[in-house]
Amino acid sequence: MHVPVMLAEVIERLAVPVGGICIDGTSGGGGHTAELLARVGAHGRVLAIDQDADAVARLRARFSTQPACVVVHGSFAEMAEIAARHGVVAADGILLDLGVSSDQLDTPERGFSFMRDGPLDMRMNRSAETTAEAIVNTWSAAALTDALRVYGEEPRAARVARAVERARAEKRLTGTLELAEIVSRALGGRRGPTHPATRTFQALRMAVNREMESLETGLEAGIALLKPGGRMAVITFHSIEDRAVKSRFAAHVGRWESLQQGGQVWRGETPALGRITRKPVVADGAEVEANPRARSAKLRVVERLGGNESHVSGDAGARGRESQDGG
Ligand SMILES: C[S@@+](CC[C@H](N)C(=O)[O-])C[C@H]1O[C@@H](n2cnc3c(N)ncnc32)[C@H](O)[C@@H]1O
Repeated sequence: MHVPVMLAEVIERLAVPVGGICIDGTSGGGGHTAELLARVGAHGRVLAIDQDADAVARLRARFSTQPACVVVHGSFAEMAEIAARHGVVAADGILLDLGVSSDQLDTPERGFSFMRDGPLDMRMNRSAETTAEAIVNTWSAAALTDALRVYGEEPRAARVARAVERARAEKRLTGTLELAEIVSRALGGRRGPTHPATRTFQALRMAVNREMESLETGLEAGIALLKPGGRMAVITFHSIEDRAVKSRFAAHVGRWESLQQGGQVWRGETPALGRITRKPVVADGAEVEANPRARSAKLRVVERLGGNESHVSGDAGARGRESQDGG
């Protein structure tokens, strides 16, 4: 079962009030959701969203005795519509814990893992059209190269794309181990601790699930749904996601800009946010040892400022909570 990453760090920084309303946009195995439910109590509410129907079925079973928990099958990119449908106008706490769950990775038929044989699927939402198989067999070498470079940060993206193109000319590619072997051979085999297909599989998963598009939409939707004083926490697992979160949050945190004629003007998107974490929080050594998935996790948390803060550029202090991660 999926072990939630940085559970204590997330809960402490989200600091949701008793009776509060939360949205867990990536409920997965329900580890963070369970703790949010404990915090808001029986009079609060947690909307637990996941786009994976298998996860949703397990979440419904797990939280069936807790009426404060509403489990919803959908994407966090549709958070605004989902919230409206469930009568949620604004939230005290929102969490996005990105990427795949251990439950997904450890189920070979889902096709996420290059360690076990399975179909090249990789869809989190199995009613979506595009599979990894469709991408590797139909995208041009240029499009594959782009995806591998942008989503996988694969330095030898063109070489991998050409190898895929050559292999599929012989026969349609259908299996995870088959693809992992093609990539591994193209890159000269395994040299370090990381499997050579790691970046390719990450890139394909992100392309299949349109993860960056969902993230951009979900971040904006979440920010717009926060109550004044409400907080949003995002856990990312690689730099492309973290950069997107950092820059979206920064746009709402805003900055002062000097004017040519003298004086300064405030530039920032609304609603205005304050940072609860100045630098991303990372898992401590004990957690990384117990759960290697936590190694690359980065947590950023912001708070929606209340009232007229167009002059505020520092950390948020609403609801009397202090910034906890200085420096
Ligand atoms: C890292 S796991 C979350 C684990 C969860 N926090 C826990 O404690 O068990 C990520 C989950 O988010 C889901 N997911 C990823 N992108 C999503 C999206 N755009 N909308 C809804 N769920 C998404 C995945 O299906 C997966 O179950």
